Amino acid sequence: MTVPLAERLRTATRELHRSVERAGLMPALLRGQLPRADYLLLLRNLHALYEALESGLARHADHPQLAPLQLPALARAGALAADLDALHGAGWAPALPLCAATRAYVDRLRLLADRRPPLLAAHAYVRYLGDLNGGQVLARLVGQGLQLAPGQGVAFYDFGAAEQVAACSRAFRAGLDGIAPDEAAAQALVDEACDAFVRHRELFEQLQRPTAGH
Ligand code: HEM
Repeated sequence: MTVPLAERLRTATRELHRSVERAGLMPALLRGQLPRADYLLLLRNLHALYEALESGLARHADHPQLAPLQLPALARAGALAADLDALHGAGWAPALPLCAATRAYVDRLRLLADRRPPLLAAHAYVRYLGDLNGGQVLARLVGQGLQLAPGQGVAFYDFGAAEQVAACSRAFRAGLDGIAPDEAAAQALVDEACDAFVRHRELFEQLQRPTAGH
């Protein structure tokens, strides 16, 4: 493999990334204009994704193709639950529905955890590097848009100080570069990462029209 996997993933998903940035409720989120109810629905759906992803990663913590990506600071399910507790209050899980796209995504993650655990790395890439890159900006926009008290309900975006975020990002990328033993494995990860972006696009579109996705 001549091109390192981290670079290959970035190049292969660049166009999809652009389309996801513009999909469904994302533009409103970026303008700080997403209604609170829609934001809670987004967090609730993301929580289901992270729970499935992180339980799969935990189950295969010693897998040589996943272990290099398992940085404790990355885990997000607990932070999302804390934000939902803070912004919605107890009972958010039954109160806030999951979209069809989320349910399908969770099924995919569970299937990978059962049958092809190394491909979970592609989903870890799409989520965690996305969070590490966008977190600081989104925390500010969400806080302003929803008029939150400083630090309230934005644990999801908190990976520590800027140096910690940069270090985490570097460690994750370095981890990626060691996990594909051959070309077939690398290509399978690139394909799975593209699929993850498409699934996110569907999710954001369904969340914009909540009744359409149920
Ligand atoms: C909401 C609008 C978004 C904006 C404005 C945004 C912006 C950015 C920026 C500026 C970078 C750094 C690019 C670079 O270093 O070359 C980045 C990286 C990334 N973003 Fe986003 N992003 C958004 C949404 C998302 C979403 C929803 C996902 C996942 C579904 C995502 C996944 C990623 C990934 C995986 C990377 C790392 C790319 C790489 O270096 O390999 N982004 N994003």
